[in-house]
Amino acid sequence: MKDHALWLNGRLVSPGSAGISPFDRGFTLGDGVFETMLALNGKVVGLTRHLGRLRYSAGVIGLDVPFDDPELVHGIKEAVTACGLSEATVRLTTSRGPGPGLEPPQTTSPTTVASVVPHTGMLHGAESAGIRMVTSSIRRNDTSPLSRIKSLNYLDNVLARAEARRHGVEDALLLNTKGLVACGTASNIFVVVKGAIMTPPMRAGVLPGITRSYILELASRLGIACEEAEICPEVFRDATEVFLTNSLTGVLPVIEIDNMAVGRGRPGEITHLLAKSYSDAMLAGAYYG
Ligand SMILES: Cc1ncc(COP(=O)(O)O)c(C=O)c1O
Repeated sequence: MKDHALWLNGRLVSPGSAGISPFDRGFTLGDGVFETMLALNGKVVGLTRHLGRLRYSAGVIGLDVPFDDPELVHGIKEAVTACGLSEATVRLTTSRGPGPGLEPPQTTSPTTVASVVPHTGMLHGAESAGIRMVTSSIRRNDTSPLSRIKSLNYLDNVLARAEARRHGVEDALLLNTKGLVACGTASNIFVVVKGAIMTPPMRAGVLPGITRSYILELASRLGIACEEAEICPEVFRDATEVFLTNSLTGVLPVIEIDNMAVGRGRPGEITHLLAKSYSDAMLAGAYYG
């Protein structure tokens, strides 16, 4: 057993011998798509949904993923098993492969990698004291199809996260080009006002998050009013709770935005309930597959 494993184009390889072309368009142009997933006790949370989103993202950029779902599942499971960690981060990346210029080549030889490494993020958001955010100066480009897929173009998010760190807080809030609330740097955002939950719709330029979809389902099962709605940043004055969702961190409470406390400045009850229900369901295996 090792603490990392790599599956490249159909077989397990050691990171030192994993050869990817320097002309790979994933490297030169960010021409590809990916998924990040959580593996618990050898099983990947929401694997079917993640594979569905990978294909959706690939479809948007006109990339044919060179493996079918059973082959990808087999490769991911092979790597997860080889790694042997009880909590691991799995990343599945497909790029368009080597090719010159901007125009996608007529014939492509895509590169597909599944990597498994130790999970370092916070798993149980319910136990978190909450994070602070600042509004980024960078806008989420809702006019671009890339805002709704998980492409290899993450530099806006990288810069926004760095901006947050310069302000001494954990994450940045991205508004879209219309000045409406979009997302965190690697998360969907939910806002609680008068006991009801709101989250921005896809047209606001947000990724159709896998955790977001679980939370929408959980909320309706728990009888919590929940809707997709365009959200103005002024809403944070009235919000009693705000939380972020991500496959690796689950549900993360936000306690401060732009130096202003959210609600009472500590994680709220609805956030706690959803975070606990979500992590319980994950640990019970309800969301595997
Ligand atoms: C921009 C963005 N939004 C939302 C998410 C959350 O998606 P998921 O719940 O599928 O992890 C991510 C995850 O990395 C992200 O990068």
